[in-house]
Amino acid sequence: MFEQLQALPADPILGLMALFREDANPDKVDLGVGVYRDEHGQTPILESVRAAEQRRFGSEDTKAYIGPAGAPGFVSALETMLLGSDHSALRDKRVFTAQSPGGCGALRAAAELIKRADGDATIWVSNPTWANHIPLLGDAGITIREYPYYDHSAKTICFDAMMDTLGQVEAGQLVLLHGCCHNPCGADLSEAQWQALAQLLSERGLIPFIDIAYQGFARGLDDDAYGVRLLADSVPEMFVTSSCSKNFGLYRERVGAVTLVAADSGAANAARSQLLSVTRGIYSMPPAHGGAIVDIILNNEDLRRQWVAELTAMRNRINDLRHALVESFNRKGAAGRFDFIADQQGMFSFLGISAQQVEQLQRDFSIYIVGSSRINVAGLSSTNLDYVTDAVISVL
Ligand code: LMR
Repeated sequence: MFEQLQALPADPILGLMALFREDANPDKVDLGVGVYRDEHGQTPILESVRAAEQRRFGSEDTKAYIGPAGAPGFVSALETMLLGSDHSALRDKRVFTAQSPGGCGALRAAAELIKRADGDATIWVSNPTWANHIPLLGDAGITIREYPYYDHSAKTICFDAMMDTLGQVEAGQLVLLHGCCHNPCGADLSEAQWQALAQLLSERGLIPFIDIAYQGFARGLDDDAYGVRLLADSVPEMFVTSSCSKNFGLYRERVGAVTLVAADSGAANAARSQLLSVTRGIYSMPPAHGGAIVDIILNNEDLRRQWVAELTAMRNRINDLRHALVESFNRKGAAGRFDFIADQQGMFSFLGISAQQVEQLQRDFSIYIVGSSRINVAGLSSTNLDYVTDAVISVL
């Protein structure tokens, strides 16, 4: 049987992790996979997470299954984080959330549910989008189409072209949006753009699907949920997939959630039963540990405060690095060319260099970035910043 299978090339993002590990160059720099790094290049366990784990280890009294929807304390705290504590959709019981194995588990579960509800479903994704969106959604059998999003020459969102394309989309089709910290381009919609988009989606009867994997990394927890909250106010139905990998640093614990907003509580109930039947058929129920940590943190005032401070420090570090990188490019002779990086948000930006130049950075300098020229800004530090800018300027 296996001889029928052809070997595939490595994953464009995860493949870099292995190459980086094998590289013996002491000056190597990992700007590939999207994990937060501190000044020493480490991905730390947050102190709030350590404290929550201590509490859990002291009080956990069973390893029996958690329910298929996950831990109730996790689910309700996450809904509040996404929608705010008093959103009308929550009050009207139009919302259902299930804990999932990471944001990927959430995306796949939502995709399978969409396919059940509409065998001919089409989802429009931004060009560009996170590479794994395509298999996660497409392998469920949903048709994928693209709308223009990022203008590589102007280094900004091409909002008019995006609206023109979405303005032609048939009612009932879905539109995938990045809640904040667009992956891979780092260019986020402004509040005015979210408002114009909300109006268009509602007028045309399109269904938003917001993937929010970096809440808290752009402007703050509430500001970053602006689009989610606005669209939940503006349209009858939507999907939200979220992840606690980045904002809680719980990457390997695989904790995320899929949230449905339905037109009324009856429809939410039906969608809930179908979603849990979908997840039962894929992974049965989510792993407990990561969700339990988030549950403890979000439901304890002191731990929550400590976590928000740690999240704020991660966000500030990334924003400071964005400015330091631009300043370094400007000082070293590439004045103005990379200024856009300081205006973008979250972990990622495109450098805007060719695939050949990306290869050269890897081969000659052991600097690892994704082939599209996406860099993980969090991989920079005061130690490697000059090395990286010099190297990039030398390949321009
Ligand atoms: C990334 O975009 O690098 C992260 O979301 C990690 C991944 O799974 O691709």
